[in-house]
Amino acid sequence: MPLKNEKIVITAALPYANGSIHIGHLLEYIQADIYSRFLKLIGKKALYICASDMHGTPIEINAQKAGEKPELFVEKYWKEHQQDFKSFHIEFDNYYKTHSLENKELSEWFFSELKKKDYIYTKQISQLYDETAQRFLPDRYIKGTCPKCKAEDQYGDVCEKCGVTYSPTDLKNPHSTITNTIPVLKKSTHYFFKLSAFSASLQKWINAKDSELQPEMRNWLNEWIKKGLEDWCISRDGPYFGFEIPHSQKETGAQKYFYVWLDAPIGYLASLKNYCDKNKQNWKDYVYKGTLHHFIGKDIAYFHYLFWPAQFLALNIPLPKLTAHGFITVNGEKMSKSRGTFLTAQDFLNLYPAEALRFYYASHLNQHLVDVDVNFDDLVAVNNNVLTGNLGNFCYRVLTFAQKNYGAIEEIAVEGALTKRISDLMEEVKHHYEQLDFKSAVKTILQIADLGNAYFQEKEPWKDKETKAAYVGFCVNIARNLAIITSPILPQFSKKIRTALNEQSLTWNTLRFDWKGEVKKIELLVEKIEKTQQVSELFPLHLCIGEIKDVKDHPHADSLYVLNVDFGKTIGTRQVVVGLKKHFTKIQLQKKKAVFCINMKKAKIRGEESQAMVLVADDGKKVSLLHPEGKIAVGTEVTFDRLEHRKSEVTFEEFKKLKMEVHDHKILFKGKVLKRIIAKSVNNNAAIM
Ligand code: MSP
Ligand code: ZN
Repeated sequence: MPLKNEKIVITAALPYANGSIHIGHLLEYIQADIYSRFLKLIGKKALYICASDMHGTPIEINAQKAGEKPELFVEKYWKEHQQDFKSFHIEFDNYYKTHSLENKELSEWFFSELKKKDYIYTKQISQLYDETAQRFLPDRYIKGTCPKCKAEDQYGDVCEKCGVTYSPTDLKNPHSTITNTIPVLKKSTHYFFKLSAFSASLQKWINAKDSELQPEMRNWLNEWIKKGLEDWCISRDGPYFGFEIPHSQKETGAQKYFYVWLDAPIGYLASLKNYCDKNKQNWKDYVYKGTLHHFIGKDIAYFHYLFWPAQFLALNIPLPKLTAHGFITVNGEKMSKSRGTFLTAQDFLNLYPAEALRFYYASHLNQHLVDVDVNFDDLVAVNNNVLTGNLGNFCYRVLTFAQKNYGAIEEIAVEGALTKRISDLMEEVKHHYEQLDFKSAVKTILQIADLGNAYFQEKEPWKDKETKAAYVGFCVNIARNLAIITSPILPQFSKKIRTALNEQSLTWNTLRFDWKGEVKKIELLVEKIEKTQQVSELFPLHLCIGEIKDVKDHPHADSLYVLNVDFGKTIGTRQVVVGLKKHFTKIQLQKKKAVFCINMKKAKIRGEESQAMVLVADDGKKVSLLHPEGKIAVGTEVTFDRLEHRKSEVTFEEFKKLKMEVHDHKILFKGKVLKRIIAKSVNNNAAIM
């Protein structure tokens, strides 16, 4: 990929502000970070731009479940994402948000310009509507029987059993996953973008001789276009967390919102604009005179290779460059919460250092659309044998030797042939980085470290320190060069070497073999790691706040009550049988808020159906309900800090095995705290049952 433009904007896909960053995400943010660091290293005016993607139905519904306003809900993830990226040394020039003024204005601008040019029209369509929740249902919130293979419990867009795609109205026996009710068809007028008008020009772009698209991507795109591109619905009905579409009330009969995928890519530009405004630059210089280069995962290719460029074609904006990567598997399988192979960024850091993952990913990524398997045996081996054993060992050994024995480099052996060989290899490394072939870059870097190791070994400076100082000087120069060329992948490693050599500047054109100067004590560069249990902790209960509306005696059992519990609009009310008669009077339970497990296998207890289970703390003397600390709305889900929650149905046997305990009135599971909940008036070590 020749780099014609000096101004380059690198972007990575905007992560949804709806959950934590996980190691799958990190593949992309690390890939783009390596590239952006490399561009800066060779003197390009590159910016690495990103943001959190804050709009859409799932975010709105999850915020509601968490009992929070979407604005606050997304803000928390926005902060968390930045922390996580920072701990993996992912260095954005700007990390912004799609729920911003810049993005609102730019989205409106895109919309009105496309409309002026007649690329947007309105059309009435019928969609499935949940009358209980009073909202139209996105495909992912409808489940039913596959119209083709009759598999049950399939989503509204695609059958996971037979792979066929359909529209949710084709599903047999559809039901809303929000309220479990049967949706009805309802009409609504929406805005459509004329994607079909761009088939020919997109095809031309994709198949151009100088097209830099990855071949596997080009094949996919041609397939898609051959099947025919359909116009794209870019509006949504309320309730929706997103930007209101101006004039939509008048034009469609109801307030409409931009579909999240309309304003999300525009969010790249909004983040860029936010950066430029802060730094007194003009964002249009980057977009119209520079290069936009998007890094994305293959799952969002349709949006980035078709919808997005089509809008650029319509608005005469130069088309972006795109690089797609594949998906992460862990130990050969899709990441899965239930198998414990779903690792968040934090989970990973609790086990291994960040640069172990950066190095591992770099060793697997090339310019093709690769899937990467994170095999933990392999990750440990690569870290210990290659990163630490070869590269780290050479640099550490040489610099420590130099510091201890000489304190400074004053003479350097002249090694014409080896200098030439290493210089050639460094040129190769540069070329590999340019090609986004990080795997080959790593291989070549290791060759250089091998040459250095062999040279140091051969010269045996420890045998005669005085006469052999110049050889060590040459080795220190190799280590210094390695610090520069590894810096895109291993910024910390590189920084430690540069600190020891008191070198601030970091550019490719300072590579040399005649560096002299003081050598300070160096920090440990990289460490060997051990294979630890990498399974993240799982917690199977879906815990929710409910309010006890009514308490009755169980008709057939003396020790039991039958409760009627309100869980709010989305979950509704449920009947719950509890064995609390010995401990509480009816009045003590009436109108109380408590914590219930709502994904227990439904059971009949002495003839009465029980659709949830109440959680209590019991220290042998006293029994206490679990209370919300402060105000929490009914229906709010409560979770343990830093625990993965897997919520399929649980049996009572499984429940009994979970050891939850009270400490200082907090509820703990494997040392993790149940957030926002306390157990009053019981002693420490009370068990939760
Ligand atoms: N919000 C959209 C992107 C909007 S861009 C204008 C989105 N967000 S995401 O959080 O689901 O994903 C962000 C990026 O991470 C995507 O490029 C996606 O492909 C990537 N990955 C998410 N899970 C992944 C793996 N398991 N493996 C590799 N990449 C993955 O999509
Ligand atoms: Zn099917």
